[in-house]
Amino acid sequence: MAQTFDVVVIGAGPGGYIAAVRAAQLGFKVACIEGWKNAKGELALGGTCLNVGCIPSKALLSSSEEYEKVGHHLEDHGIAVSGVKLDLAKMQGRKETIVTKMTKGIEFLFKKNKIAWLQGFGKFVSGGASYRIAVGNETVEAKYVIVATGSRARHLPGITVDNDLVCDNEGALAFPSVPRRLGVIGAGVIGLELGSVWRRLGSEVTILEALPNFLGACDEAVSKEAWKQFTRQGLAISLGVKIGKVTAKKSGITVEYNDKDGAAQKLECDRLIVSVGRVPNTDGLGADAVGLKVDPRGFIEVDGHCKTNLPNVYAIGDVVRGPMLAHKAEDEGVMVAELIAGQKPHIDYDTIPWIIYTSPEIAWVGKSEQQAKAAGLTVKTGQFPFSINGRALGLNEPTGFVKIVADAATDRVLGMHIIHSRASDLIQEGVTTMEFAGAAEDIARIVHGHPTLAEVVREAALNVDKRSLNS
Ligand code: NAI
Repeated sequence: MAQTFDVVVIGAGPGGYIAAVRAAQLGFKVACIEGWKNAKGELALGGTCLNVGCIPSKALLSSSEEYEKVGHHLEDHGIAVSGVKLDLAKMQGRKETIVTKMTKGIEFLFKKNKIAWLQGFGKFVSGGASYRIAVGNETVEAKYVIVATGSRARHLPGITVDNDLVCDNEGALAFPSVPRRLGVIGAGVIGLELGSVWRRLGSEVTILEALPNFLGACDEAVSKEAWKQFTRQGLAISLGVKIGKVTAKKSGITVEYNDKDGAAQKLECDRLIVSVGRVPNTDGLGADAVGLKVDPRGFIEVDGHCKTNLPNVYAIGDVVRGPMLAHKAEDEGVMVAELIAGQKPHIDYDTIPWIIYTSPEIAWVGKSEQQAKAAGLTVKTGQFPFSINGRALGLNEPTGFVKIVADAATDRVLGMHIIHSRASDLIQEGVTTMEFAGAAEDIARIVHGHPTLAEVVREAALNVDKRSLNS
């Protein structure tokens, strides 16, 4: 007899495990299928985000930030430091400890919520009134299925990723030593974040980007400032390149490419990161066996509520349309569990924040000034720098600004854009304001604690009406 469940979730990344927890909270009998094995060969919950994505990268980002700070930025505070030494093995060990704590935390959540962890990879066998799903040699049955199988790094034809010399996000988080020369293909989120980590730890970093524009998804004011900061820090970024042959030998890697003017160039490096986007994990899912619709790029087709073409089958996170962000996947997981329970949840896809954990960080929500204008909207904008904020000066973090894009007629906030070392936390004020359909004046009239970085958000809101108080 096959084990039967009300809800089977395929995948235990941030989308899947949260969906499983919420479904269990709502009283369903839930199983979650996950067969991820970590570098030690142990089964682990948490998917890309916890094992080889958000969590380990942020651990290394913080460690490398501390290293750079101690090495270069404490003198301004009157603190002289000498003999700073890097113990990369210890730094990597700290990262692993955090990852283990987080992934074990999900095991705890599963036990607490009586969620069965089915160890292996799930594959649809048959549909109908209920779905049969194979996991290894076992088959389970469920009325509802939530597919949360995530994504994997996209690789380029002709470039073999061995995760030793040529790496995607997985290998790039586990270098055993700091490469003297690091090459990166793709100046997107991963390329910039990991390029920043290894630059701070001492690598000479060169990033090769196919598009002619830098950080095209950001507001232009932010991408310009980011370009200025990153190149000043020593990241060498070439735009508009066309990658050719890559030859990888232990003695060094050669990347042949044409620069923006079409001239043939060569990059010599010791390790190479390929970070050119991600592809959804739908092969091996048995979609054909049940007639689950998958688009030509491999994404499962869903509506605004993550419903697939099959009754009672939902898909969430990186495997469906929309940004490949853990928090988007989590919210879709909650929404789907609540829909199955007959509730009426909703996600506002226009208020999903983006954060790039570089130094300084970049965060935004809603439309850039350029996007708003392209959409035919008449806008007014307000901008305020951190360089004249007392708290930012005290922190020795004066770089960057907050920019607010508001509708010229209604004053409603259409977007907020921040570049600053604490942008990831500050952006939430913009998300909350937009979720409540707030106006720039609403932010301007809210009391903001002093002295805080959040005062810059308020000053930017005041600046929408050109009435900043401190400039
Ligand atoms: P990405 O889409 O952010 O950037 C890829 C970059 O590679 C683009 O700029 C693209 O133009 C460039 N590219 C594509 N083909 C190329 C080629 N042949 N030669 C040179 N450049 C090429 O993708 P990335 O950085 O791999 O990250 C994948 C996804 O993971 C992101 O879109 C994001 O959703 C997610 N992520 C989010 C993070 C966060 O929220 N902080 C952190 C890391 C990843």
